[in-house]
Formats: sequence, structure tokens, C-alpha cells
Amino acid sequence: MRKPVVLITGASGEIGHGLITRLAADGSRPILTVDLKPLDAEQGRLVAREFIGSILDRTVLERILSEFEIDLIFHLAALLSTRGEFTPVTAHQVNVAGTLHLLEFAQNERQSHGRPVTFLYPSSIAAYGLPDLATKSRAGKVKEDDFNLPTTMYGCNKLYAEHLGRYYSRHYKQLSSETVSARVDFRCVRFPGLISAVTMPSGGTSDYAPEMIHEVAQGHPYACFVREDTRIPFMAMPDAVEALLRLAAAPAGALTRQVYNVGAFNPSAGEIRDLVLEAFPGARVTFEPDLKRQGIVDTWPADVDDSAAARDWGYSPRFDLERAFADYLIPTIRKQYQR
Ligand code: SER
Repeated sequence: MRKPVVLITGASGEIGHGLITRLAADGSRPILTVDLKPLDAEQGRLVAREFIGSILDRTVLERILSEFEIDLIFHLAALLSTRGEFTPVTAHQVNVAGTLHLLEFAQNERQSHGRPVTFLYPSSIAAYGLPDLATKSRAGKVKEDDFNLPTTMYGCNKLYAEHLGRYYSRHYKQLSSETVSARVDFRCVRFPGLISAVTMPSGGTSDYAPEMIHEVAQGHPYACFVREDTRIPFMAMPDAVEALLRLAAAPAGALTRQVYNVGAFNPSAGEIRDLVLEAFPGARVTFEPDLKRQGIVDTWPADVDDSAAARDWGYSPRFDLERAFADYLIPTIRKQYQR
């Protein structure tokens, strides 16, 4: 038997960065990565093999299938919500066709080595679409099955990919004459906006929070592209990585759903500005809303109900807003830009 291996797509992105570090420290499985961009040198040293290429290129996945026995997949590759509005067809190809390729790949791995394949998929608060601000403020903590009417290509893609995952894990080839003996074990978290102290997002619409912190820490002024009263949920990157690992490790019998909300804190943009100014007095942060990007964030929930994740697999974020700034973001970011 070949050694079981973990595969990470979109590995050079923000979540990949944190996940590779954690998985490498844990050391239980060799790590394979796929991304269009190479990993930075430090991360590259932590992985067993790095494939530079597109998840849309079947030959990359076929090569992996022929060489490795994958039993755990973190499919992180995606094109985010702002970028997706400029190139919706490309967003669909990466986010939907790419996910389809990976699910098919996972099913093939399942059949070829005969052991379970766990497929972790990060979906997003972008899968929600609230019709107006009055509904958003009335809705409070939104549950997974409510307001599933996304307005962005990215949100539509994520919601549909969740359904693809459900299909592959429960109903794949249900009419086939040969019985499909086992299916992919698909598990999904809907992430809020993520804030990392060590990397910067690109192409998202929740980017104003991390941008504000990183720009100010570098001594730059920041013009925030949403209104001061804009409120969506966020979480610190170490909690996001921990959530993926915890859900991956949960016993299948404990899971009552396939898609779980997770959240940690939900400050307004103005409250984020206040915390940033406390840490960097004299910084210049202004609010210059881009009405179109504002329109997107206004359809996302002000908060999410993550009680199912807490109940089923013990989700419990380490960082609330205060601790995220005081113990993680500010000290780590300061150190990074002082170098
Ligand atoms: N951070 C993502 C975005 O802004 C939301 O999942 O597109």
C-alpha cells in the first residue's frame, strides 16, 4: 500500500498558507499541492510535491491519480467575489468546473485505493443573498438553509458546488447498473471574511478589513470601500484552518449536515477602524464607499448561526474580536512589517 497523502488545491492562497504550516507541523501525511502559482520557498520546503498547473487541466489530476493514494483533499482553489464579477465565465470555470474535476478525481481515488476519501470544501457567506438592508438587520444570525439567493457569480458558484458535493457523496450515479460501492465524503464550511496576519487577500469583497489593517501597519493611508456601518462576520485565519482540520477529523456519524456555517465576530467597518487606530494612533482611515462593491456586501448576512458546527464537531473559535487584534493580528503584523 502506498502512503496516504493529502492534496491541497489553491495551495498558494491565503488559507493554503496557514493549512500547509499546520499539516506539516502535524506531520501525519505527506502534502501534495496544486496551484497556478508556485508556493513561496519556505512553504515549498514543507510539501512532498508541488504541481504547478490548473485544476482545469485534467492531465495534472491524472498524473496525481496514477502516482499517489489521496485520502484527504482540501479543495481551496477559487476565484473570489470581486474578481468573479469582472470575469464571470472564468469564475464559473474555476469555481464550478474545477470543483467538478476535483470531485470526480476524489471518486476515482476512492474507487482505485478502496479507502474513504474526505473532501473538505470552503464555501462562503457569499452563498447568501439578503434582499435589502432592512431584512439584513432583521435577520440576525442567518441559518445555513435561509436566504440562499446569492447575487454574485462567486456566490452562485459556491452554492452550486455545495450541491455538487452533496450529489457526489450521496447520489452519484444513482441509476448506474453497477452499484457504486462507496462515495466521496464531502464536508463543507461556509467561511465568513477571513483575516490573516501574514498574507493579504486578493479579489474578494470582504478584503476591506484585512486591507485596512495591513495598509495602516505599513504606514499607508487607507480609503475603505464600504460604509462605516457595514457589518459582516469575520474570523482570524488560524481559526479558519483549525475549523477545516476539525471538520476533517470529525467522525462521520456525528455530522448531521454537509454544509456548516462558521463565524467568530462581526464588527462594523467603523469598529474595525477604531481597533486599527488604537493600535496605530494617527493612522489615516477614510470611508469612500464603492457603491457597487457595497451592494455586494449589503447582501451578505450581518451574522451567521454556527450552532450546528458547534454541536456536531465542536467548532469553537479561539479568537473573538478583541483577542484576534490583541493576540494575533497586531503583534504578528507589526513584526512582519518591522523586518
Ligand atoms: N472573502 C470572500 C470574498 O470576499 C468571501 O468568501 O469574495
